[in-house]
Amino acid sequence: MEANNRRSFLKAGSLIGASLFASPLLNTASGKEKNQDSSMPEKPTQRILGTGKHSLKVNYGLGLGCMGMSWHRTFIPDRKPMIALIQKAYDMNVNFFDTAEAYGPWRNEELVGEAIQPFRKKIILCSKFGFNIQNGKLSGFNSKPANIKEVVEQSLKRLKTDYVDLLYQHRIDPAVPIEDVAGTVKDLIKEGKVLNFGLSEADPANIRKAHAAQPLTALQTEYSLISRDPEGEILNTCEELGIGFVPYSPIARALLTGYINPLTKYDADNDNRDSLPRYTPEVVKANWPLIEAIADFGNQRGLTASQVSLAWLLAQKPWIVPIPGTTKQAHLQENLWSANYEFTGDELKAFTEKIAGIKITGARN
Ligand SMILES: NC(=O)c1ccc[n+]([C@@H]2O[C@H](COP(=O)([O-])OP(=O)(O)OC[C@H]3O[C@@H](n4cnc5c(N)ncnc54)[C@H](OP(=O)(O)O)[C@@H]3O)[C@@H](O)[C@H]2O)c1
Repeated sequence: MEANNRRSFLKAGSLIGASLFASPLLNTASGKEKNQDSSMPEKPTQRILGTGKHSLKVNYGLGLGCMGMSWHRTFIPDRKPMIALIQKAYDMNVNFFDTAEAYGPWRNEELVGEAIQPFRKKIILCSKFGFNIQNGKLSGFNSKPANIKEVVEQSLKRLKTDYVDLLYQHRIDPAVPIEDVAGTVKDLIKEGKVLNFGLSEADPANIRKAHAAQPLTALQTEYSLISRDPEGEILNTCEELGIGFVPYSPIARALLTGYINPLTKYDADNDNRDSLPRYTPEVVKANWPLIEAIADFGNQRGLTASQVSLAWLLAQKPWIVPIPGTTKQAHLQENLWSANYEFTGDELKAFTEKIAGIKITGARN
């Protein structure tokens, strides 16, 4: 989008924040219409994932990760405010929403399905298959063709729709050749139940084989200032093949915002951070210099740590679309503003070098 519009939206942002959320929504017989607040950008920035007929235009270059609204974060908020949050995101021109069969399992797709009803056809709805689910618990992988087809039927019911815009395989299943997975998704695309195909946490060899059988729109994999594994072979493969890249946990499950500290407690029944090495009090403390460096960069420029972390990801490649998750409208707005910050070349180099010089402790998972 035009740089001037983008900058004025950023500048205006801090002043209009309160009024933005207070402005009324227009409800009509045909469903909810867009927020008419003139401070909203009429045309947000866009990024393109994928190429050719399997490309997707994503507003702001940022999506909304919906998982934490029902799963893997310490509290599970009430449904009503989460439905309102998803609808608010649409009002703010967010058009890329991420969920999965596994989130809950099932209850996150049900939540998203209910929330998007008024504007289903105007958004890019992303979901995933690929886990084996036994008695409501994830138990290994299952990408057998019959299971993929069955999962998609059930996902469509939960999402209250007849197609998924972008369907990812959640994890590579070592028991099923990727060509069979891609072939099954190809059939679903022919049937109109799926529009585009993606993989998550796949290695270059599987990316290549899958893409040859059915062109991939995106690879979704963890990537953030603290988890930089995709740099190199993975991002190079995506670039070579014209596949978009969707960083999940782009603010490292709140770690990079500065909100997580050594006293933070996680609900062991629901929150997966309790089981991840980087969230123990000792490791959070050991990695604090990274948080300080991010906050320091932001403090000089009127940005929060979350905004710096997201803007840095956006600066890596023009075909990267992070999907930060949140349960709060204030965080949603804050995160969207990161699309307006453009690093200069020198800034990006100096900041990246500074970050690279900080020793990171603790494995990713
Ligand atoms: N493909 C996969 O295997 C995979 C795995 C994990 C996640 N995902 C997808 O990626 C999405 C995002 O990942 P994630 O939720 O794991 O991690 P994330 O987006 O890095 O972090 C989300 C956490 O950060 C907090 N947060 C967000 N914005 C904030 C802000 N501006 N200031 C302070 N705190 C903020 C949220 O809390 P509040 O609610 O308080 O804002 C939440 O606890 C998920 O929703 C899911 O769709 C995919």
